[in-house]
Parts: sequence; structure tokens; C-alpha cells
Amino acid sequence: MSEAPKGIVATNLVRAYSSGRRLCGKADAFRAVDGVSLTIAPGETLGIVGESGSGKSTLGRMIAGIETPTSGAVTFWDEHYAGVGTPQWRRQRRHVQVVFQNPAAVVDPRWSIHAQVREALTTHEQLAPSEADDRTQAMLAMVGLGTMGKRLPHQLSGGQLQRAVIARALVLNPRLVVCDEAVSALDVSVQAQIINMLLELREKLNLSLMFISHDLSVVRHISHRVGVMHAGKLLEIGDSTTLFDNPRHDYTRRLLAAIPADSPRQRRQRDMKAFGGRGAAAAQPEHPVQS
Ligand SMILES: Nc1ncnc2c1ncn2[C@@H]1O[C@H](COP(=O)(O)OP(=O)(O)O)[C@@H](O)[C@H]1O
Ligand SMILES: [Mg+2]
Repeated sequence: MSEAPKGIVATNLVRAYSSGRRLCGKADAFRAVDGVSLTIAPGETLGIVGESGSGKSTLGRMIAGIETPTSGAVTFWDEHYAGVGTPQWRRQRRHVQVVFQNPAAVVDPRWSIHAQVREALTTHEQLAPSEADDRTQAMLAMVGLGTMGKRLPHQLSGGQLQRAVIARALVLNPRLVVCDEAVSALDVSVQAQIINMLLELREKLNLSLMFISHDLSVVRHISHRVGVMHAGKLLEIGDSTTLFDNPRHDYTRRLLAAIPADSPRQRRQRDMKAFGGRGAAAAQPEHPVQS
């Protein structure tokens, strides 16, 4: 008998929304995600790219277990997600975290960032106060905010605030983090710093990442494999280097052509600058487990 698959296995996911129109007397359902199957291995980063409206966020929410598929299934380390709101679902929540684009929208403006990271931790674990403080402080230090715990959200830059949100997600020791346009609102140099930080942390913490972005140049730096979404379908999925160097699908080629740098040489120079000397090759460690 073969071992049960670890990590995420999504099979034939569909998410339909009613379009409000009626065709032949039946409610016409629009498929935001239309039959997507994929896997994410432990420690693996899967990038998801595609234009706005292609279904990336809907797919990410189903993979994170915060939206129920219309049909199809997700297993998370060999478990199905429990129904939203049930005790089992709450237990599962700590293992999968989501980081969105706008950190200011998900923090409490009246609480210090130390208090918010600590609160996430103590909601899930019963700890002595000093231990909760120590673990919070250690996590803040890991995201480069070791001296800023006392600050309120408005006293941080956008990049620092996103680091605080990442600390709050990672303090629970999740297995999977879904990053949905998590760096898209930040300046390019800040994006690169946060990507580099994620590259370090995912090794330390053996994290699986689903990294969703409309920006291919960001995705290629962090992803072992990349999937291309278009109109709810996964058009192609493959090893990051292969996909970027040798796209099979016309649509992928067009997406790639829209990356601003116009020659491979210019792109490399820009990468070197933005990623502090770590080119794409250096930023992409060896692929872990192929599915
Ligand atoms: N809750 C919803 N109700 C109805 N339509 C939705 C809902 N969420 C997303 N959609 C539609 O599904 C499609 C895919 O959306 P989304 O997953 O947000 O794409 P992306 O993240 O790639 O921009 C879009 O056409 C969007 O309008
Ligand atoms: Mg989206």
C-alpha cells in the first residue's frame, strides 16, 4: 500500500456563482473556478498567476478551506476540511493561514502589534504569560520587527505592517500559508525584501506556500512550481523555470510578454537589483517533491 499523500491535494474543484440570469427556466451558474486539480507538497511553494477575474482568489479560498467548493474536494494532510464554524474546523484553522493584500484591513488599529500576534497565539494555545510573550517576541524578531512590538499599526509602514500580519500568521506554526496578492500593494524594493524574508522563513518552518499574484515577476522568484489560471481553468502548471522559459500555452506566452522588463538581460539586471544580488536561480532552491 502506498503512503497517504501529505500536503494539499485538490481534485476537480468547481466554484459556481449564480449569475442572476435565467436560461431555459434554470438559474444560470457562472463558474469562477472550473475543474481545477492540483497538489502542494510539504515545503513546496506553488505560484498562481493569471489576470484579474481569472479565479485565483476563489481557488485560494477553497485551498485554504474558507470557502466550500460547489463540487470537488480538497484534502489537507489527508484530512477533509470540516464544515465552516465547527470545532474541528477551528482546530484545522491554525494549520492554514491566509495573508491578503491590505494589512491595514485585518489588524486592530488600537492594539500594539505585539498584542495582536500574542492574541493569535493564545487563542489557540494555553501558555504561561511569560512564554506567550517570549514566543511572540521571537516571532516578531524573525520578521524583522524585534524592536517594534510596542507600536500601533499606524506607526508602521505598509511593508512593516504586512510583516506584522505575516508574524501573526506564522506564530501558529501553520503548515500552509496562502498569500493572495500579499505584496502587490507595496513598492518593488519592499516587495523584494518581504519575498526574501518568506524564502528564509519557509525553509526554517518547512512551510507550504500558495503564492497568488497577477505579477509574474514576483511569482517566479518564490515558486517551485507555477500554475496559470484563465477564466476559471488551470491552463498549465509546471516547474517554475520550465514554465517561464518554455511556456506551452499561448495565453501564458502573452502573460509573460506583459512583464515590463523587455530583454532577458534587462530582466536579470533588474532582478539582481531588486533581490539584492540573488538572481532567479539563487532564489529558487531545488524543487522538493514533485507530484
Ligand atoms: N462571492 C462572489 N459572488 C459572485 N461572483 C464572484 C464572487 N467571488 C468572485 N466572483 C467572480 O468570480 C470571478 C473570479 O474572481 P476571483 O477569484 O476574485 O478572481 P481573481 O482573484 O483572479 O481576480 C470574477 O468574475 C468574480 O467577479
Ligand atoms: Mg484576487
